[in-house]
Amino acid sequence: MNGKKYVGVLTSGGDTPGLNAALRGLGKASLQNGMQLIGFYDGFRGLMQNRFLRLDEKNLSGILTMGGTILGTSRDKPHKMPFGGKMLDMTDVMVDNYKNHHLDVLVCMGGGGTQKNAHRLMQSGLNIITLPKTIDNDIAKTDVTFGFDTALGIATEAIDRLHSTAHSHHRIIVVEVMGHNAGWLALGSGLAGGADVILIPEIPYNVKNVADAILQRSRSGKRFSIVAVSEGAMSDENHKLLETLQTNLDSAKNDGEKDKKEKLRLELETFNKNMTQSTLLLSQKLEELTGLESRVTILGHLQRGGTPSAADRLLATRLGTAATRLILQEKYGVMVAARGETFEAVTLEEVVGIRRTVPPDHAWIKSARAVGTCLGD
Ligand code: F6P
Repeated sequence: MNGKKYVGVLTSGGDTPGLNAALRGLGKASLQNGMQLIGFYDGFRGLMQNRFLRLDEKNLSGILTMGGTILGTSRDKPHKMPFGGKMLDMTDVMVDNYKNHHLDVLVCMGGGGTQKNAHRLMQSGLNIITLPKTIDNDIAKTDVTFGFDTALGIATEAIDRLHSTAHSHHRIIVVEVMGHNAGWLALGSGLAGGADVILIPEIPYNVKNVADAILQRSRSGKRFSIVAVSEGAMSDENHKLLETLQTNLDSAKNDGEKDKKEKLRLELETFNKNMTQSTLLLSQKLEELTGLESRVTILGHLQRGGTPSAADRLLATRLGTAATRLILQEKYGVMVAARGETFEAVTLEEVVGIRRTVPPDHAWIKSARAVGTCLGD
């Protein structure tokens, strides 16, 4: 149970504000408990390449308020690592590096993909603890993820600012908020910023309903409208098309029909490529249907940049220091979940492969409907 602990840590997936606060929380608490810490650069890639930084009081200081991650990050996966022009399974190399450093545990900070990859490494024999970070807020079994609050603030401020220009020009402004599969960010910022229409991946929209809501506003003397749309929001037609493509692809896979599978895979690729233009197309369609001028603002990576909010600093520090407590107890194979003002260690099996999307009866949805926001359905 006891003895000096050797801790490895990495940050993986898209960066989020709060990662440095979490590294500091974990790092300082671990050093205070006599542990030794190394941080691997650039996520799982650094673990594979054995590129690391010894973390000490000096380099853990002054990072609480910094955005990004001092360790760097990547979206590389242990079992599909780009190497020498190929995608190779480098899990064994990572296991060896972990052992060569005599690590007791590897702490992985990341989103849904990172939880899966960390779980895979756990199955290869490593002691793992994960922390839930993503601006998308879509990780299962935690109340919230760090990074979300900061992004929510940035997107809300953007919607606030877009109001005055939309109002002055009597325009529709369609503002695209991050979130391919979960609408927390668009819904939260749309609600907080008073968007007139909020479109999220969980609720396929009918463009005519959206146009009608805008025209209705116009008729009542409100000559501008703000439409907050998630990256992954889809019209009901596209939603149906995607479902059909996916069902057909699954059955081609099950039936071992190689040519059909390849054809459908390409069709799905084209569909996803076209979807990257969906916000622009929505804006054009709204112009057509309403006769009003429309502009698009894509918030993009602005939402992930800069200093973390106070709430994210608190959450990340809480979860980082909680990870140290779990290391002291040798409680591994778990994610440190936020649970009210405290935390809970949930097994990785309970977390991986589950995306926490917005439930149709969520309080935010009910409130949006109650104040007359159009959700496109
Ligand atoms: O997973 C977080 C996220 O910010 C998503 O909201 C967004 O769709 C994606 O990452 C963007 O990824 P990248 O930074 O790799 O382009």
